[in-house]
Amino acid sequence: MDIPIISAYAVDMEFFLDTANVKEIEEGVASGLIDGVTTNPSLVSKESSSFHEILKDICELVKGPTSAEVIATDFAGMIKEAEELAKISDHIVIKVPLTPDGLRACKKLTTNNIKVNVTLCFSTNQALLAAKADATYISPFVGRLDDIGQDGIGLIAEISDLYLTQSFETKILAASIRHPEHVHQAALCGADVSTMPFKVFNQLYKHPLTDIGIERFLADWKKTRK
Ligand code: E4P
Repeated sequence: MDIPIISAYAVDMEFFLDTANVKEIEEGVASGLIDGVTTNPSLVSKESSSFHEILKDICELVKGPTSAEVIATDFAGMIKEAEELAKISDHIVIKVPLTPDGLRACKKLTTNNIKVNVTLCFSTNQALLAAKADATYISPFVGRLDDIGQDGIGLIAEISDLYLTQSFETKILAASIRHPEHVHQAALCGADVSTMPFKVFNQLYKHPLTDIGIERFLADWKKTRK
């Protein structure tokens, strides 16, 4: 797709790490460029500590928005889990799925000053519903759409236009990021946040000419009269 460069957006993209691995988060935070973390049940299942312990450690490290997903699929169950998770830290953002119960829970939690990340968004209408439910974040899954031959970044662009036109305050959190191209494309389309695997974050620094340039400068420096 052609990526629109829209100057009307007043965004300053935040970087979140998409991992539940405390070591990766520790290293990422040391870069000074990480603003938050997103987790999901699949990421948590790869770690050996309990969910609550992991979240506590992450919040202490990153001191920024940390998404924790509910497992319940019914409204009452989601609220119960969300209230427990929110006690862990003020940084916790509750992740709910984009379902009628999830959006109902979103509205209630937001009213109670608990931040919510509505996850598993694959269409502009779903993003519209999440904004109507006062979601703090909407998470469109870029990579999973690309996987089925659809245009993940195109969805980010369309939601950006929608939220700008309608003055919704819900932040666009580009999720399911698979490679560095996704990061700058999401930024150009006006996403407020990109959440990325630690590997992708490290790839952002890389360009072969940077490495060759350093090598050449160091080799030339050795020839300099001291
Ligand atoms: C983050 O909030 C999402 O759960 C995550 O980005 C999904 O990524 P995946 O599609 O690579 O599993």
